[in-house]
Amino acid sequence: MNRIILLGAPGAGKGAQAALIEEKYNLPHISTGDALRQNIKDETELGKFAKSFIDKGELVPDDVVISIVEDRLKKDDCKKGFILDGFPRTIYQAEALAKFSDIDYVIDVEVPDEIVVDRISGRRMCSCGKTYHISTYKSDTCEKCGQKLYQRKDDNQETVMDRLKVYHKQTEPLIDYYTDKDKLVTIDGTKSIDEVFKSIMNILK
Ligand code: AP5
Repeated sequence: MNRIILLGAPGAGKGAQAALIEEKYNLPHISTGDALRQNIKDETELGKFAKSFIDKGELVPDDVVISIVEDRLKKDDCKKGFILDGFPRTIYQAEALAKFSDIDYVIDVEVPDEIVVDRISGRRMCSCGKTYHISTYKSDTCEKCGQKLYQRKDDNQETVMDRLKVYHKQTEPLIDYYTDKDKLVTIDGTKSIDEVFKSIMNILK
């Protein structure tokens, strides 16, 4: 089965790859970041709570994201597999996940910090979910749906540096955690989106 975790720093390309995997393998793409941002947009209690953490580049408390993922994985479309993007992000989250789901692949998309900063500061989003980078896409409207593109509030240089610190301290230990479980595969995330995707297809077969 393809129960996949995409690991990697902010801006490593997890979202871009998850969208390609979703399309080719027909697996649901589960992004805790997207779920939290949707709650912020809908002005739910959860969204109001999460916003202050996200805006500062800090992690939202473990139990909040664990319950989002646990509920989502109960849905029928996850029975054939799924892609977790941005979860787990702490050892505590990984241990909680292990209690409610097995995982087949943990793919670490490795990218150095300086590339991450460039990718995130040039990223533009569309509400339909498509993501662009200003170096390769010059229009300010989405080619898929025509809506106006916007920049994520936490995609400014200062917050990116904070997100990177959080990543190295709280998320990077998952590399050893999943290596010990013989689940981790590391791929070079500095290559083009298509080349990175080829590496992932070789892993998934
Ligand atoms: P989240 O939304 O998960 O953000 P993130 O992990 O910081 O990851 P990003 O979405 O920034 O990057 P990405 O790796 O998906 O890169 P992308 O493909 O877009 O989380 C946001 C916040 O929510 C967190 O800070 C936290 O507060 C909270 N949160 C979420 N999950 C949580 C959890 N589990 N626990 C606690 N808190 C949680 O690519 C980036 C750019 O680069 C794009 O412009 C793209 O076009 C470009 N690009 C991608 N790949 C390539 C490539 N190969 N070559 C050139 N350009 C590329």
